Amino acid sequence: MRNFDEFTITDAVLDRVGNATDPRIREISEALVRHLHAFVREIQPTQEEWQKGIEFLTRTGHICDDKRQEFILLSDTLGVSMLVDAINHRLPEGATETTVLGPFYVQEPPERALGADISEGMKGEPLFVSGSVSGSDGKPLVNAAVDVWHSDDDGYYDVQQLDALGGLAMRARFRTDAQGRFHFWTIKPAAYPIPHDGPVGQMLAAQGRHPWRPAHVHFMIDAPGHECLVTHVFVAGDQYLDSDVVFGVKDSLIREFVEHPAGQAPDGRSLDRPYARLHYDFGLKPKTGKASRAA
Ligand code: BEZ
Ligand code: FE
Repeated sequence: MRNFDEFTITDAVLDRVGNATDPRIREISEALVRHLHAFVREIQPTQEEWQKGIEFLTRTGHICDDKRQEFILLSDTLGVSMLVDAINHRLPEGATETTVLGPFYVQEPPERALGADISEGMKGEPLFVSGSVSGSDGKPLVNAAVDVWHSDDDGYYDVQQLDALGGLAMRARFRTDAQGRFHFWTIKPAAYPIPHDGPVGQMLAAQGRHPWRPAHVHFMIDAPGHECLVTHVFVAGDQYLDSDVVFGVKDSLIREFVEHPAGQAPDGRSLDRPYARLHYDFGLKPKTGKASRAA
């Protein structure tokens, strides 16, 4: 077969990739070819525009290393990460909604005792966080791993300033108690722009978009027999709740970070300055084995 033109090339490529022996590879390859060819037919790129696209993807790859993952930022800012997340988390009643993981999670964070202060002396308003973890049936989950991480008062994560900090801060793993509860101290996080000094930042600027995320605390919660929950809790009233650059906000994940005057905190600690308090009760989805593909 030869002499393909703009009307016959798509079927020719589909024919070729249809030889894949793995049915899932065949399905994905065929969809990729169909959608990619339809995209090109729709935008009718000039040769220069296509070259610019290739150069954009090349720069996106070149800026990636073990600390910077520009392709994840690209997926996040085009709403693809949240689409994949939505498809994979069709949740039962009582299960907490999910949102993007983001690039700042650190595997096996330091395990801390309930009640610990994980701010490591960073400046900012003290924040008391409490919550519970249960199955979607409401039964408390004991000894669940609750990983938390968040930005500082200036909107930076510890991993973005490791040299200055000398170690991790504002992140930890807690274990729920016999009633499925946890609590800890930290500082109130701030809104921040995602890293925008690379190709994704250039794309956002060209699209007339800002790079900001509303202030939030990340949670990853794992308990035997349940699906691992990856989510955040957002600060109510934040100016970016309706324009999160990665489309990650859901109403059910927004909470008041309630302001309290100086005095005795819920854990008996005495504070000489005002502090904020966040409470969230999480529900985990039981594991069912195979993920459903049904819409
Ligand atoms: C984050 O919330 O940490 C995050 C998520 C997506 C892109 C960049 C940062
Ligand atoms: Fe974040």
